[in-house]
Amino acid sequence: MTNSKKIYIETYGCQMNVSDTEIVRSILSKDGYQFINSPEAADVILLNTCSIRENAETTIHKRLANLNTIKKENENLVVGILGCMAKQSGRKLLQTNDMVGIVAGPDEYRKLPELITNCFEGIKGMAVNLSRIETYDDITPLRTEGVSAWLTIMRGCDNFCSYCVVPFARGRERSRVSSSLISEIEKLTEQGFREITLLGQNVNSYKCPESGDSFSTLLEKSAAAGQGMRIRYVTSHPKDMSPELIEAMARNHKICNHIHLPVQSGSNDVLKAMRRDYTKERFLELTKLIRSNIPDASITTDIIAGYPGETQQDHEETLELMQEVQFDGAFMFKYSPREGTKAFKVEDSVPEEEKAHRLNEIIQLQSEISKLSNLNEIGRLHEILVEKPSKRNRDEWVGRTDTNKTTIFPNKEGSYKAGDFVNLKITRSTSATLFGEVVQV
Ligand code: 5AD
Ligand code: SF4
Repeated sequence: MTNSKKIYIETYGCQMNVSDTEIVRSILSKDGYQFINSPEAADVILLNTCSIRENAETTIHKRLANLNTIKKENENLVVGILGCMAKQSGRKLLQTNDMVGIVAGPDEYRKLPELITNCFEGIKGMAVNLSRIETYDDITPLRTEGVSAWLTIMRGCDNFCSYCVVPFARGRERSRVSSSLISEIEKLTEQGFREITLLGQNVNSYKCPESGDSFSTLLEKSAAAGQGMRIRYVTSHPKDMSPELIEAMARNHKICNHIHLPVQSGSNDVLKAMRRDYTKERFLELTKLIRSNIPDASITTDIIAGYPGETQQDHEETLELMQEVQFDGAFMFKYSPREGTKAFKVEDSVPEEEKAHRLNEIIQLQSEISKLSNLNEIGRLHEILVEKPSKRNRDEWVGRTDTNKTTIFPNKEGSYKAGDFVNLKITRSTSATLFGEVVQV
């Protein structure tokens, strides 16, 4: 179908949204829409939004205010809100913000062509129902070029951690059929991708609805199907991480030695209140099991500071756990109350200033740990997947180790290109980056 209309999409939040934007692009390209890289000349602007913390929503409100200048120049401009915020606060946005003409939640992207056509005719529309079956299994995501591809293997989440909006915004957990995922991986191999990240909110509970394949089976099948490729995955839930999965990772060198394992807190009282279903002791055992099976594995995590009722003692237990595990990296957040969640009903009792103080201590400690962990890398050899030139120096290139550490190296006379695997010896490091030189092995 041909269509002269131009669409500009901005993506916020997690990798799941990045992957969803590729599905949206695929759906709309079938209707002939063109995609452009800046909003000024667009007929349609779509914001794929995040609701995980309040500041994610504030960012979108600010962006909408900012886009108002474009809407003033082009009164036919269609502005749409997609993603988690569409589900959580779309109705309110549609009613209170004149600019917004479309609201579409994560399970309703098939309706976008119709919603957009209607909106061009002056009819605003909203589609925010959640589905128990939608996996967009038949839609091949329209990926932008690169060496790494995201592959959503499951949608939604059934865990209902007390603080988290995801089960409400994205609905119940459902897995894609493994045979369809494997044929997508074969196609990605042919297209020249060199790394695939299997994506899900809690990949450990993946279960193929046809064959019953578990996540570790899918992971091994993916590694076999992806010729000349690395396979990664996010995110694991500590309560479900199985010894079989750890063994599969240890056995198979195409599966990267990186595990993102969000701990959230080091206090058993807080973990219980968060409904995480594991104790600090169990978490520590798990990390020991990982390290004994995969000695060079990197383990990263997520931590929330200032959950309701968190005491100074609880906070110190989080710091102690961080010391004990020595995470290679962490995403660290202040607790943000989200409407609809269990925790929203209890008082947000830790004062803002105290939350900020605790978060700061967590960030400081992690930065020291990351610095030390990266100092230990000096002298080691790593195979790097080359991604792109460094922004600071075009003669230097950026890639990542198997353990997901960003690494910079000199690309003398442009000998290497994106997608190459290069062996490096690490010569220097900071808390965030490794630096290396090419060696022949
Ligand atoms: N406040 C702060 N952080 C949160 N996360 C999820 N919900 C909240 C919230 N309400 C964090 C968790 C999760 C990561 C994706 O976001 O650490 O693992
Ligand atoms: Fe949210 Fe918990 Fe599900 Fe992760 S596992 S998406 S934190 S409810």
